Amino acid sequence: MKKAFYISLKPFLNHGALPRPTDWKAVFANDFPLEVEIGFGNGEYLAGLSAQTPRTNFIGFEQYCERIQRTLRKLSRTGLDNVRVLRLDARAGFQRYLSPQTVSRVHCLYPPPWPKKSDAKHRLFTADFLRLINSRLVPGGVLKIVTDHYPYVDWVRENIRDTGFAVGFEKTGAHHGTKFEKKWVEGGQSEFYQLLLTKQDHMPVGITEDSVVQSYCIDHFDPEHFSFKDYSHEGTAVAFKEILYDAKKKTALVHVIACDGPLTQNIRIVIAHSPKGWRINLAEGTMLMPTLAVARAVECVYEAAKNSN
Ligand SMILES: C[S@@+](CC[C@H](N)C(=O)[O-])C[C@H]1O[C@@H](n2cnc3c(N)ncnc32)[C@H](O)[C@@H]1O
Repeated sequence: MKKAFYISLKPFLNHGALPRPTDWKAVFANDFPLEVEIGFGNGEYLAGLSAQTPRTNFIGFEQYCERIQRTLRKLSRTGLDNVRVLRLDARAGFQRYLSPQTVSRVHCLYPPPWPKKSDAKHRLFTADFLRLINSRLVPGGVLKIVTDHYPYVDWVRENIRDTGFAVGFEKTGAHHGTKFEKKWVEGGQSEFYQLLLTKQDHMPVGITEDSVVQSYCIDHFDPEHFSFKDYSHEGTAVAFKEILYDAKKKTALVHVIACDGPLTQNIRIVIAHSPKGWRINLAEGTMLMPTLAVARAVECVYEAAKNSN
């Protein structure tokens, strides 16, 4: 018989369906302290920590599906109910799902160091992200970052000014047991670098609010002449992928990518004929966050459809 893939999917949360910010006390049905792991990878550390401290709740943010699947299998083995994982960029997670001053500790092991100067824009712990994390930590809360790449330590230190943190630094050994740590150890590295940033002053950063996504109706639409202009403004971007048209049903499905800073969402927008005209709406069943880019995407489709005559 084939082995069951997971015992429970309960720890996995669909972020599209969660209230923002989320009442984590209600999700866990207790008021234990809350900790967050950013980029938990295959979940070795998250599963270990949550088993060691069952009276602490943990939220994990990770981007890769396969790593989340492996983590769910590990969590199934512990059988504990104190972990929830989301497939979400941690920056969007902190911006929208965590209320100010609610998190005791944040862990991040081996964030991608993006060592090339030209890739520096991808590095995670910018001053803005540090301020955001600070705002979500309780007084005295701690952000722990461990890296294999010493220049990353210097880069984070440069960003610390005006983020409300006091910095502690130490060299550390390989004792987290994660996949990437093992990989570096197999490659011959035995020394790693740990930053402990302790919250001293509070940085007020509010919750990023959802946007209102409008519906539209137009009198005429010609799918042959639909021409979409990509949109980009101050971190919000919308890029066209494709349009599919069903002539019998007089319905078009437009696929676009909507980006709000680090948050990327694939969305579908429907242009459907009705007795009152052509209605333009988000496709039903689209699980997403109603962000500014999503609102802009529907607006851009409306503009393109209106100009198709
Ligand atoms: C080098 S791996 C380390 C994984 C794990 N912590 C370990 O030690 O094995 C970095 C992980 O961080 C995740 N990651 C990178 N940036 C992220 C972000 N902005 N939000 C959530 N996860 C992120 C990646 O998907 C990847 O799994």
